[in-house]
Amino acid sequence: MDYNSIYKNKNLFGTEPHWLVRKILKYKKSGTVLDIGAGQGRNSLFLAKNGFEVTAIDTSAEGIKKIQESVARDGLSVETEIADINGFKFEKQYDVIVVLFALQHLIKDDVPVLLEKINGHTALYGLNVVAAFTTEGDFYKLQRNRKYFYPAPGQLKETYKDWNVLEWEEKQSTAFQKDKEGRQLKNLTSFLISQKR
Ligand SMILES: C[S@@+](CC[C@H](N)C(=O)[O-])C[C@H]1O[C@@H](n2cnc3c(N)ncnc32)[C@H](O)[C@@H]1O
Repeated sequence: MDYNSIYKNKNLFGTEPHWLVRKILKYKKSGTVLDIGAGQGRNSLFLAKNGFEVTAIDTSAEGIKKIQESVARDGLSVETEIADINGFKFEKQYDVIVVLFALQHLIKDDVPVLLEKINGHTALYGLNVVAAFTTEGDFYKLQRNRKYFYPAPGQLKETYKDWNVLEWEEKQSTAFQKDKEGRQLKNLTSFLISQKR
């Protein structure tokens, strides 16, 4: 998917934060956040507005540019970096790490290593906030090769079995992409907020 050309012309995911990100406020009122694959920033901006110190990273220069424009317009402070998460240098512990709808862009074998890094750079009692499309869905089925990361239903929760799972849901989500017949694609999607203990 060419996010740069999409982000140039439209706000793909809108300005409202995802409902899972709103739930962070139930558990944390401040702290450092790393938003991985931040897109055009709907979640980073919401967290910055609510008093968090946010670092937003994305491979898309256009996405990062849109975040910087919003930050300047709203007088917020968000650190941004055009970066591939695979090469990102984790230099500190974060209170919250957010990975929403980005894991399906990563090579299957790279994700366990990345999740370990994410876990290792989460502060004690810090949160990991993850939304991921599962193998039960159109995105997974339509892949030409099966090289990208899609967890099986339940797999993400199992990955966090040594943490406190604060929020866990698996439900169908409807994508904006359509199939050849014009039907919107659907995916069983995992939603998780987990706390390190
Ligand atoms: C479906 S969008 C989700 C955007 C955002 N998380 C949200 O929920 O609004 C996925 C994002 O992940 C980014 N991405 C894909 N591969 C990446 C990588 N290896 N490192 C960092 N970001 C990546 C894409 O550029 C895109 O902006």
